[in-house]
Amino acid sequence: MDDLTLWLEGDRVLTLDQTLLPFQQTVIELTCWQDCARAIATMQVRGAPLIGVVAAYGVALGLRERLEPVAIASIAQALINTRPTAVNLRWAVDRVLGEVQKWPEAQRPEAAWQAACQIRDEDIACNAAIGRHGAQLWAPLLERANLAGRPLQVLTHCNAGALATVALGTALAPIYQLHQAGQPLHVWVDETRPRNQGASLTAWELQRAGVAHTVVADNAGGLLMMQGQVDVVIVGCDRVTANGDVVNKVGTYLKALAARAHGVPFHVACPTSTIDSHTATGLDVEIESRDPEELLFMHGSDGSGILRRVRVVSPGSMALNPAFDITPAGLVDALITEHGVR
Ligand code: MRU
Repeated sequence: MDDLTLWLEGDRVLTLDQTLLPFQQTVIELTCWQDCARAIATMQVRGAPLIGVVAAYGVALGLRERLEPVAIASIAQALINTRPTAVNLRWAVDRVLGEVQKWPEAQRPEAAWQAACQIRDEDIACNAAIGRHGAQLWAPLLERANLAGRPLQVLTHCNAGALATVALGTALAPIYQLHQAGQPLHVWVDETRPRNQGASLTAWELQRAGVAHTVVADNAGGLLMMQGQVDVVIVGCDRVTANGDVVNKVGTYLKALAARAHGVPFHVACPTSTIDSHTATGLDVEIESRDPEELLFMHGSDGSGILRRVRVVSPGSMALNPAFDITPAGLVDALITEHGVR
């Protein structure tokens, strides 16, 4: 998967509107900090590393409009406030702000732009390294599957692929690298209710890359693991706390429990910018609480290509919609970062 999820044309920041995938591939242009904030808040862009990169460009675009420290601080805060759980967002904003402090005022807009470009480039390099480390980690699993005459069976939750980053992804990086090396593998893709990032984004990506995959209902994973149909589970994450807890898309925790119960390795892939050593445990992280409407309604194409929104819950019922959950450190068998496996 060589495609970039975010790219520049001159000074224009371009990306795909992920709320329209897999039905429409619409490129959106982010020309001011408000565009960046809106794209993150509405989930046109999502995934921890990607929202960090977009926020970094947001600060850089903000500095083209305003140079006063108070105005920049309020733009930075507005960007950070768009989504609370992924630490990459604050990390990227703070990094750009730290960089610009080193320069006289007139040079700050350019310094911020260069810092955002560096964060973007590092993301690409980190994911390639994560892919290499993950592929190495999986070598014995692959060998066992090969000996049994079947593909390596991987299960993933949500989308931690190219669409969640600038390129390649984190959890999907080892999958893409092994696929490119000609290794047979098959991916079980959790649909990931309620926003269906697995069904609408991961499946779209894997299909474009030619990786064999099957979408399953979120609750099918336990059965597949019990039946011996999963060799490894891999997910990305929004934050790893100081004690090693992993905060990721809601439903991850149940996959980790099932994996432990059935002796299936549970792996997490992320860049070190996702590691938050200032927060003690997963319970200290703010879990984004999203609009219950996301549960009450579903979106899709009606077959004639028209995008529709339909209600799936009886009117009058309440819904609760936490977007992330916490997987205790003890359930994580390997954390794969750009620096290796731990
Ligand atoms: O709500 P989303 O779609 O932004 O959630 C994304 C995830 O939970 C990903 O697993 C995580 O951000 C890691 S992306 C490499």
